[in-house]
Amino acid sequence: MIRLSKSVVGEREVIALSKVMAHGYLGMGAEVQLLEQKLQDYLGCSDRKVVCVNSGTAALHLALQALGVGAGDEVLVPAMTYVASFQAISATGATPVACDVHLENGLLDLKDAEKRLSSKTKALMFVHYASYCGDLQSVYDFAKQHKLRVVEDAAHAFGSVYRGKKIGSFGDVVCFSFDGIKNITCGEGGAIVSADSAVIHKVSNARLLGVHRETEKLSSAQCGCDFDVMEQGFRYHMSNLMAAIGVVQLDRFEKEFKSARRQLISYYYERLKNIQGVQLLQMDLDDIVPHIMPMRVLNGQRDRLGIYLKQHAVEVGVHYKASHLLSKYGHGSSQLPVAEQLSVELLTLPLHPELSRRDIDYIVGLVQILLCEECVMSEN
Ligand SMILES: Cc1ncc(COP(=O)(O)O)c(C=O)c1O
Repeated sequence: MIRLSKSVVGEREVIALSKVMAHGYLGMGAEVQLLEQKLQDYLGCSDRKVVCVNSGTAALHLALQALGVGAGDEVLVPAMTYVASFQAISATGATPVACDVHLENGLLDLKDAEKRLSSKTKALMFVHYASYCGDLQSVYDFAKQHKLRVVEDAAHAFGSVYRGKKIGSFGDVVCFSFDGIKNITCGEGGAIVSADSAVIHKVSNARLLGVHRETEKLSSAQCGCDFDVMEQGFRYHMSNLMAAIGVVQLDRFEKEFKSARRQLISYYYERLKNIQGVQLLQMDLDDIVPHIMPMRVLNGQRDRLGIYLKQHAVEVGVHYKASHLLSKYGHGSSQLPVAEQLSVELLTLPLHPELSRRDIDYIVGLVQILLCEECVMSEN
């Protein structure tokens, strides 16, 4: 079976984990601080701080809570995202307001978002769908015009750039995911990045049950004998075990993963671009480090192609069924025609650093056989 995605880990990660075990403290401590520092260095911004947590969903939840989003508020969010974005919003008590997306790239359609603004709208969650961000400046212009805070769901976009700047090195509050299949993994994990010191302070406390300044105490000689809790917190902190994997992955990202992912997607694009019945998403491939390889399968052939690929040992996925179609989020009560179209057209092909060009040749060959069979049938 050619895997859709996988954690690419090996001896270096095992050695790092063994060191943490030998040291004898697996919880949150020095290794987490080291990962935070390394991520900050990687992003190249001393004015911004990084706070690591145990998932991308936790990062989004804490980011929204730190911005004061809660019951009675609304948050604009593109429907074409993983349900984690919606769940993070509803976890605060706020309502996710699903917005339509652009057909060519799955990114938030600001014109549609504008129609869904209300007096309750407090923030906008922008999703870097398939690692791309399109015209991010216009998102920030829109937010400024409507006095909204922005949370970037950059779960797919670790390593991607916008106008030469790394995602996370600028912007209001940016959240990453380091789950098992992301551009870098900690097993599970996530991070919040912001220049807003109030946000950083709040998320640092909230990740550890809201215990005031617990994070700072971990790295100082303070005894931690007395403590206070002022806000709702969660057990969202990252462990030293997770961080140890992350430190190795970050190093490998620059040396191995980034170029591998970029080369593979370029090869997919080259091989797929002229196949009838396939529409590739339009994105600047030089700016992204691709996490997934979704494509549009036209003429109602998506499910047939998905089944055909699986029958031929190729794992495929769907990113995504639009979240407004899910029972919890309205069951399609709002009309989002583009997101609905993409929900039935998108099919994700395998992508991970251990995929080979031969694998891609095989996959593209199967796509060609099935879709061309279909062309012949429709021509007759
Ligand atoms: C767009 C998007 N947002 C948020 C998340 C949540 O990240 P995590 O799985 O680390 O909780 C994911 C994870 O797949 C995602 O794809």
